[in-house]
Amino acid sequence: MIVLQRLSKSFNGVKVLDDLDIEFGEKQITVVIGRSGGGKSVMLKHIIGLMKPDSGKVLIGGIDINALKKKELNEIRKKFGMVFQDGALLDSLTVFENVAFPLRRHLKISEKEIKDRVFSVLEDVGLEGQDSKMPSEISGGMRKRVGVARALILNPEIMLFDEPTTGLDPVMSDVINNLIISMHNKFKFTGIIISHDISGTFKTGDVIAMLYEGRIIESGTPEEFKNSNNPVVKQFISGSMEGPILI
Ligand SMILES: Nc1ncnc2c1ncn2[C@@H]1O[C@H](COP(=O)(O)OP(=O)(O)OP(=O)(O)O)[C@@H](O)[C@H]1O
Ligand SMILES: [Mg+2]
Repeated sequence: MIVLQRLSKSFNGVKVLDDLDIEFGEKQITVVIGRSGGGKSVMLKHIIGLMKPDSGKVLIGGIDINALKKKELNEIRKKFGMVFQDGALLDSLTVFENVAFPLRRHLKISEKEIKDRVFSVLEDVGLEGQDSKMPSEISGGMRKRVGVARALILNPEIMLFDEPTTGLDPVMSDVINNLIISMHNKFKFTGIIISHDISGTFKTGDVIAMLYEGRIIESGTPEEFKNSNNPVVKQFISGSMEGPILI
């Protein structure tokens, strides 16, 4: 479904992605872990065509998205729902209007249909009754859920989550992880989650992949990952200062 082939990207002479290869399985949830500043968000931005690689390919359903014209890329983008790292809610719009935004932008449907779909997805993410609030009036966990609702509203085939639990307490993190699992069961999207939340990673991932020094150094099931012999993986998942990872 989604394949990155020998993807490389540098900023100011520094290689962030270095011949990165990975395949994301259809309808699976793949969690990508890795250090802060390691290029995880850069990788996601390549997948939705917000960044262009220096070399290498991004294939979505076999199509090289960097060979597409703007209009064709926009068509492909409709397959994606993205939950941004910082939430990226529009502060001047209510919760309702934030979630309705992609519908108004991409579909010509009646106001009644917009209302039905927004209320239905707000209920899915546990935000019923919050529709008239402004983003500044709700908690961080609720803002994340608004982001999830907005990403889901067009029933995307692919959902990208950039650190959906960062900045949340462990209980709210678990709520968000369970929400991702239940939304995945309901909508059956191909999911890619970027995360630092190791326990959440083992819970939500069908496959876990670790990005390190610009490449995927290990990928496998949560069980395989827990039993990895790679010293970098072992150090990262145990959260230790001691090991081969340079600080
Ligand atoms: N548009 C840009 N211009 C220049 N440098 C950039 C740009 N975007 C990212 N970088 C650099 O690329 C590197 C990787 O950034 P990225 O945001 O992908 O890290 P990350 O793995 O998502 O980290 P975190 O876990 O902290 O979110 C960083 O050194 C960053 O400064
Ligand atoms: Mg990031």
